[in-house]
Amino acid sequence: KPRVLSGIQPTSDSFHLGNYLGALRQWVALQDTADAFYCVVDLHAITVDHDPKVLHERSRVSAAQLLALGLDPERCTLFVQSQVPEHPMLGWILGCETGFGEASRMTQFKDKSSKQERTTVGLFTYPVLQAADILLYQTDQVPVGEDQRQHLELSRDLAIRFNGTYGRTFTVPDPYIVKETATIKDLTDPAKKMSKTSSTPKGCLYLLDEPNQMRKKIKGAVTDSDAEVRFDPENKPGLSNLMNIYTALGNTTFEKLEAEYAGRGYGDFKGDLAEVVADSIGPIATRTKEFLADKAELDRILERGAEKARIVASRTLAKAYKKVGFFAPA
Ligand code: TYM
Repeated sequence: KPRVLSGIQPTSDSFHLGNYLGALRQWVALQDTADAFYCVVDLHAITVDHDPKVLHERSRVSAAQLLALGLDPERCTLFVQSQVPEHPMLGWILGCETGFGEASRMTQFKDKSSKQERTTVGLFTYPVLQAADILLYQTDQVPVGEDQRQHLELSRDLAIRFNGTYGRTFTVPDPYIVKETATIKDLTDPAKKMSKTSSTPKGCLYLLDEPNQMRKKIKGAVTDSDAEVRFDPENKPGLSNLMNIYTALGNTTFEKLEAEYAGRGYGDFKGDLAEVVADSIGPIATRTKEFLADKAELDRILERGAEKARIVASRTLAKAYKKVGFFAPA
């Protein structure tokens, strides 16, 4: 079985439809075909301003959402990054393999730092810690959305470089990106990706939104002034984004949608899509609440996950420590 690892930041109260279609849906599916490790990356979450209490709670809510989406602790290893200290330990080593210029080229850093008043060294080295997350598990495939491609390229480069210098130590990871849903667009501005930092909350559909809120957001999505349901991302980016969402959630195809809505305009199309979204995403909030109701059990699941993760992570870290000439962790 291939080894899979991916992570998600606990930086909002709810994940959104872009997270789900771009990454989390693949996480759930890969449990059956891969040896899968998934982590809530709270170390990454403090690279921008944060409130400790809020962060702690969001990590729990994040884990509960992942369980609600169908991650099964019997079939995958689900853990919180801060419970596995090997991540920052390998991060340090990899940071010493990363060129300053190489890290400076990361577009997410340039993006995020330009939006912040205060930029930290942590934000700068964020992609190095991400590489450590991946390389610790001898990962073959990393299921993510398109916005992570450059970070994965760095992880590959670091693995290849380290192996070249010290001898074979890390598996070189491949991105696992599903083309159709690699970038879900903001509902009010299809030139941008859907994101929790969207300019307006209407553009971002949260998994924990009320079903009626979801319907409203879909019906209010920006389309275009003609009324033909046709997949054409270049000329009809808003509508094409909705068609992408529809085919991903609704077990249909572009051809079927085009035929079904020929001559009927956008109103019917959006109304039906709103129901598909509310039906498929709506129940997640209830299930999330159920997992959150028993905090002790949730924390036990995460602790067991961290123990399983550490077995693999500590083995890789020990190898890397030896290679660079360190003493073994006592
Ligand atoms: P994060 O927390 O921003 O996002 C989690 C996942 O959601 C995907 N995603 C999207 N996919 C499609 N359309 C969108 N609009 C959209 N928005 C977000 C992201 O690509 C991601 O897969 N750096 C990572 C977290 C991370 C990680 C890792 C990932 C830390 N360590 C190791 C993989 C492996 C991040 O910020 O994801």
